[in-house]
Amino acid sequence: MNNRGKARAYGNIALIKYWGKRDEKLILPMNSSLSLTIECFYTETEVIFSDSFNEDYFYLNGKLQDKLSTRKISDFIDLFRKAANINMKATVKSTNFVPTAAGLASSASGFAALAAACNVASGLNLDHRELSMYARQGSGSATRSIYGGFVEWKRGTNEKDSYAIPIDDAKWDIGMVIVIINSKEKKISSREGMRHTVLTSPFYKAWVESCERDIEEAKLAIKNRDFESLGLITERNGLMMHATMLGASPPFCYWEPDSVLAMKLVRELRKEGITCYFTMDAGPNVKILCRLSESDKIKNRLKEFFREEKIIITGPGPGIVLL
Ligand code: DP6
Repeated sequence: MNNRGKARAYGNIALIKYWGKRDEKLILPMNSSLSLTIECFYTETEVIFSDSFNEDYFYLNGKLQDKLSTRKISDFIDLFRKAANINMKATVKSTNFVPTAAGLASSASGFAALAAACNVASGLNLDHRELSMYARQGSGSATRSIYGGFVEWKRGTNEKDSYAIPIDDAKWDIGMVIVIINSKEKKISSREGMRHTVLTSPFYKAWVESCERDIEEAKLAIKNRDFESLGLITERNGLMMHATMLGASPPFCYWEPDSVLAMKLVRELRKEGITCYFTMDAGPNVKILCRLSESDKIKNRLKEFFREEKIIITGPGPGIVLL
């Protein structure tokens, strides 16, 4: 074993969303999902195992973290310690590289980078597929950040076949414009939100069924480089995920008035001939799937309503990088 490993992983935005678990502990999803890895934000993480540490230490952006956040990291590292038969404690140093003023932090890039660093430090040398299954147990969306471009996370039938596979490198004029509506930490985490939805929303069953169809159609659209179809599927899938929350009891909603404004602008831009489509996750920010070559035009339009530093343009990002 190397005792030390360092890796970088990029964030991703789901076009076909993961929303709901069938196994909370192993993080097995109810439905398959599909995302675009993006280059505008990433996490770099170093893991060091040593006999000289009496406990696990977790530094995030240079600051030593409290017991609760360190616990989550320790539990995750335990997966590697167990598999590689390691008894040593670890020091983890993690840095999030995010566009200024955006406040975009991501459990996806975080756990993917941690998994990749642990993989090297522990000497386990898992391949990407296995690594995605480890990352999955930290946070579902992290499964997909192991690869770059368009990535599918297969629902699978058991804990050994729910992993990510690369679909396409997305290097065909694909981009995203992210509108930061509010960078404060969300009140309802995605973990809590999806649990509540699965348990109480009568729309949930219809959601899972729609995803089966959406993911097949999205993959076909990517294969045919049919950007318009991919965008339309993305938009309807995102809206349907949010509809499941409106049907929950009690209902909840991540949208803010400005989220609706951004979504309306996307539809207006489309009428004017710019092919762009919106999606939203468990927060008020709006992500716009577009042609990278048209992203400046989209930004210019959004600038009439939103501050410039709140509008981020990004191209597709790569898979994990060892440092
Ligand atoms: C709406 O991966 O953050 O962004 O597995 O509980 O850690 P946990 O949840 P997380 O959920 C992401 C939900 C989403 C959709 C998506 O990224 O697919």
